Amino acid sequence: MRAGNVKILIFGAGYVGLCTGVCFAQKYDVTLVDIDKDKINSIKNNNPKIHEDGLEKFLKLARERESIHPKLISEKFNPVDMIFICVGTPPDTDGYIDFKFVEKVVKTIEERKTEFLKPSGETIIIMKSTVIPGTTNQLLKRLEDKNICEISFNPEFLAQGTAIQNTLNPSRVILGINKKKALKRLKDFYIDFYNNKNIPIVDMSIESAEFSKYAANSFLALKISFANEIADLVEKVENADIDQIMEGISKDPRISSLFLRSGIGFGGSCFPKDVKALIRFSEEISAETPILLSGIIKVNENRPFRLVKLLRNQLKDLNNKKIAILGLAFKPDTNDIREAPSISIIKALWRSGAIINVHDPVIDKIDLEPFKEFNIRIFKDVDECLLGVDACLIITEWDEYKKQSLEELTRGMRNKLVVDGRRIFTDRQVPTEIDYFTIGNPLNRYPPVNPITRELNNKNYDE
Ligand code: UDX
Repeated sequence: MRAGNVKILIFGAGYVGLCTGVCFAQKYDVTLVDIDKDKINSIKNNNPKIHEDGLEKFLKLARERESIHPKLISEKFNPVDMIFICVGTPPDTDGYIDFKFVEKVVKTIEERKTEFLKPSGETIIIMKSTVIPGTTNQLLKRLEDKNICEISFNPEFLAQGTAIQNTLNPSRVILGINKKKALKRLKDFYIDFYNNKNIPIVDMSIESAEFSKYAANSFLALKISFANEIADLVEKVENADIDQIMEGISKDPRISSLFLRSGIGFGGSCFPKDVKALIRFSEEISAETPILLSGIIKVNENRPFRLVKLLRNQLKDLNNKKIAILGLAFKPDTNDIREAPSISIIKALWRSGAIINVHDPVIDKIDLEPFKEFNIRIFKDVDECLLGVDACLIITEWDEYKKQSLEELTRGMRNKLVVDGRRIFTDRQVPTEIDYFTIGNPLNRYPPVNPITRELNNKNYDE
């Protein structure tokens, strides 16, 4: 396999497959396969359904180079050097991950091996889908043992919003691999792809690589839940401020400043799913009950309700109150709402009888299905969404909100009550006519107020 001439096939044109595919296609020949006709057509039309910085540009470049070939699985294929499996492994209702898509891909490769695999047995099948330790060998080792192909597990660490950047400049590449020859070929491939940029390549057993993905995401989720738990304590301490504390501890290089932003907790397709899957896995293998992992989830699941509680403390009865929700996406720069805190918040407000206005800068690209039953009113313009409302909740820290002043943002509100789940205005002066509440400050007031003044104030604070 000469690195410059590599033929790659990617199963799954979703978030991971598509972002990885357009990056590989800047240098190699990539076939992108999916079972979803709409998805494939949208890629062919240079209009992917995913909102991701740089994706459209890279797709366009690859289309111009004719180095990306979106195809339906029903079409015909030719053998390639490497097959990446990037299909989803969604959780079932109990937190176990569902392998049916991965299994189906493996079955397809096996049934149509002359189409996908080189007769020499040199094709490397690389699992990128996140799977619990043991799965890759369980599904593919027998093919490797029969010399039909070589196999590897190579986790992705793409964060949404920066997926293209993360693909081009990863902190490391982890290769779980059984055979030395395949390891050398994959290493050479990545060294060539990264233009000898000295990206660390760490090789290990397939099981360790599978485990590394879960351990990495669980650790990052742990940091967030830790910051959130400290934020709860800070709220009871006069003059304390969560950001000051996190800044103070983050100067210690052993801690670092990343993933210590407290707020309404983590969402997305990875953290909640991966931590829960690891807990389920521990049960399956009859390991000690993981205390920390369960704590991460417990702290996180409570976060959205704390925000609703803050709002309720101010407005008391939410029935018929008009509330603006700013942001649906689980984080800025993505249209993904999987496990987004906005879902539980909107559900709680709806149950309390609130009238819910919703804005998100990429609302056109958001799948609104999970909100269907809640009668939300969708706004494309943030000012219209805020017009005449009794309160606004900041759920996603989009630049569109941050770049405004609090006065500008609240100008059309009937009652200027802002409950900020992301602390986006804590670096500014809060005008006296605006009631601004957030997490991680005593009495949820920013700037922090002395608890003694509470009695002088008419507000019904949460204790
Ligand atoms: C994550 C990992 O970062 C990535 O490496 C992995 O492969 C997939 O999961 P992603 O889910 O896209 O990526 O988003 P990330 O930026 O990690 O944020 C996850 C969630 O944590 C978001 O809801 C975000 O708002 C929240 N978060 C993040 C915090 O609440 N505080 C922080 O300090 C950081």
